Parts: sequence; C-alpha cells; structure tokens
Amino acid sequence: MKAIDRPRIVIATLVSSAVVEQLAARAEVVNVADRPRGELFEALATATGLLVNSGVRVDTELIAAAPRLRIVATVSVGYDNIDIEALARRDILLSNTRGSLIETVADLAFGLVIVATRRLGPALAWVRSGAWTSKAAPFGHDLKGATLGIVGFGAIGVALARRAHVSGMRVIYSNRRQRTDDAVTGASYRTFEALLGEADCVAALVPLTSETRGLFGDAAFERMKPGATLVNVARGAVVDTNALVRALDAGRIAGAALDVTDPQPLPSDHPLALRDDVVITPHMGSATTETRERMAFLAAQNLLAWLDGKPLPTPVDIAAG
Ligand code: DGY
Repeated sequence: MKAIDRPRIVIATLVSSAVVEQLAARAEVVNVADRPRGELFEALATATGLLVNSGVRVDTELIAAAPRLRIVATVSVGYDNIDIEALARRDILLSNTRGSLIETVADLAFGLVIVATRRLGPALAWVRSGAWTSKAAPFGHDLKGATLGIVGFGAIGVALARRAHVSGMRVIYSNRRQRTDDAVTGASYRTFEALLGEADCVAALVPLTSETRGLFGDAAFERMKPGATLVNVARGAVVDTNALVRALDAGRIAGAALDVTDPQPLPSDHPLALRDDVVITPHMGSATTETRERMAFLAAQNLLAWLDGKPLPTPVDIAAG
C-alpha cells in the first residue's frame, strides 16, 4: 500500500496532548473534540482520517460531509454509533480498540454485580434518607453460592467470570454459540431463556445489534427468577427501559445496576434515575486514566499505520458486521 501525503486528521473526541502530538507529527490535525457538530462537519470537508469515540454519531449525513474520508478510528470497542454500511459503500476503513479495555470493564462489571447482589442502592438511599439510626440496614444476598448469568461471553465476560469465581459464584453464560473452552473458563453454556430462569444476577455484555436491541423486554423480565437483578455494561438499548421500569414496579426483579442507559445520557428526572433499587454509573466501564490513554494510542496507531500504508493493528471487518 502507498503512504498518504498531506493527510488531514480530524479529532472529534477528547484525547491527551501526547496522542494529538503523535498524530500531528505525521498529519495536519484539526481538533474539534467537544465542539458543536457543525464545526465537525466543516472540519471534515477536506479530512482523510477521523478519530471518534462511541458518543459521536457517524451517520450518512456525516459521511456525506467528508468526501475525502478514507478511515475512521474509534476509541471504543463498540461501534453501534457508526453506520458501517455507509462506510462500506465508500470503502472507508474502520478500526476499533478491542483488547485494550478487557480487565478494566470487567472490574466495573463485577463492581456492579456486587452493587446489585448486595443491594447497595437501597442501602445508600437509606443512609441518605437519615434512616440510619438504630434500625438494621436493608440486607442483600451472598455472592458465594449465587449464580451469575453472563449474556454475551467474549473476552470481557470471561474476565468477569474469573472475578465471580473468586467470590464463590457459579457462572453460566449465553452466547451466539457455545464456546469450546468451558472447561477453562469454568462457565456453563445455557440458552438465553434457560439462563434467565436460573441466574440470580444477569449481566448483559452483548454488543448492540439489530438482534440484541431490546433483548431485555417484558418477555425476558418475565422469565427472570423472582428477586433476581440485572447488570448492564453493554449498551443502553439492549434493555427496553420501559419494560425494566415495569419489571421493577411489579417486583418481578429486585434491582438493577446500569453503566449504560437508553436514553443516554439519562435525564436526572427520568423515572429510572429516581429509583433506590437502581444504581446508575455514567457509561464508564473503560473510564480510567490508563485504559483511556491506551485506547486513544491504539486508535492513533491505526490511523498512523494507514497513513504509512501498513496493515491496521485492530481493523473492524465491516463486511462481517
Ligand atoms: C466501548 O469501548 O465500546 C465502551 O463501551 C466505551 O464506549
């Protein structure tokens, strides 16, 4: 492949100055992170490369505003914010940052499993309400002996299972297909429906696709064990928010711990945000200084590799979705 001369890279997500400098050494860089979408569109008029994260909508309109665009590098593993068919029509390449955040996201996911299982939401609300006098705080449940059901069992799921095993949890999983390494991961395969009926805590880790949108709807909540809890560290739209509120109101499930929501960001007066039995974190599974820097560098490495005519370190196979 031929190296690209006089490239223009548009940065549309906050990254450190070290990452900007690395790109600026090789290309003209226009940094419009946190700027209005109109400015991004203007900057894209002559751009060949674009750096985004999962919060930037890369849709047909944006792609049309970038007639010279050849590559999009996202500082994320998920790319449901990107219209990959529109990229494919223009032969625009896409890279993500898979492999750079596994342990970090698994840490937060396991934290939320603890939050949900030990019922920390009601406990925190109890302290805030001033009820912490002589009465006993609300009780949660033991992790040891409880069953964690992981929906979407890729690398992050396996790392979550490792943490759960240390706490004595039994781990089951559902996946597009059964893995061949159950003996190594110590997790047992179930269909989605069987997992829902068996797990005390269900953790969603699936990517958002047309198949997983609304996966947790009324029917799924009906199948969950009474008193079970839901953890979502995938994408908000994997859960039908109204169905979740109905399941909580009806006492079908005992609570939820969510790192992602639909809508996102969640308005502070949204019914989910006001509940004691729901704990919400602001889509921060990978939000540590070290991991975000590693992700941004990896995304930059993809842009630089492309500029130098080399294979991308972490390309997304757009044709495979
Ligand atoms: C990812 O990498 O997909 C995380 O959810 C951050 O967007």
